[in-house]
Amino acid sequence: MMMNDHSSDEQPSRKLIIAVDGPAGAGKSTIASRLARKLGYVNLESGAMYRALALKAIERDASFDDEAALVELAQNLHIQLEPTIGGNRTLLDGRDVSARIRERDVSEAASRVSVHPKVREWMVARQREMGAGGGVVMEGRDIGTQVFPNADLKIFLDADPVVREQRRMAQQKIKGDVAASVAAELRERDRRDRTRAASPLVAAADAVVINSSLLSEDEVLERVEELVGQKQK
Ligand code: DC
Repeated sequence: MMMNDHSSDEQPSRKLIIAVDGPAGAGKSTIASRLARKLGYVNLESGAMYRALALKAIERDASFDDEAALVELAQNLHIQLEPTIGGNRTLLDGRDVSARIRERDVSEAASRVSVHPKVREWMVARQREMGAGGGVVMEGRDIGTQVFPNADLKIFLDADPVVREQRRMAQQKIKGDVAASVAAELRERDRRDRTRAASPLVAAADAVVINSSLLSEDEVLERVEELVGQKQK
């Protein structure tokens, strides 16, 4: 008969659900993907799903204000999030849209299509299916509050607005005249994400808030790993 040893150091670590929420430019994607890689978990970017729907709406010339039309588009979409070593790939109806969905028009549209409660309902249901098995670091705006209110660990990663804008500019190599308008767009998306009626961006009551303004990526990751370690005990 196989040994059935219940001593704690023989047990494989439990596969956690880790939620990473916060505004754009706070460092969520970097931290979530590095953490997932270290833990051997899957990193799921929920924002990519809203972005994929937004791209479809742009291509179909659908209004970002037409909730019913957007839900119908969503129901007929095939969105695949494929975590790879070099970053996450997003496939929309089998087409690789990973780069396209990061462009400015899609960023703006994603923030607009995501205000609709029925669009969110559809997204949240898909995200729950994807993360239900655990072993997942899911990032977004409402993961700790709506998608997985019982997540094992909730991180709310924040940073001062000016720092977030500067990071975004550096990340996308934006300089000169364009920088001011990109910063203004980021601020507007932020305002919309935080003030919308349905699932606004807010830290869950039981989230650990980390302000990354004065921390390096490594320092944030270290802090998060410490928290994961405590949950795995
Ligand atoms: O994380 P991101 O910048 O890729 O997200 C794009 C937009 O999608 C963001 O402006 C708001 C929306 N979003 C959301 O409402 N809920 C999520 N869980 C993730 C993103």
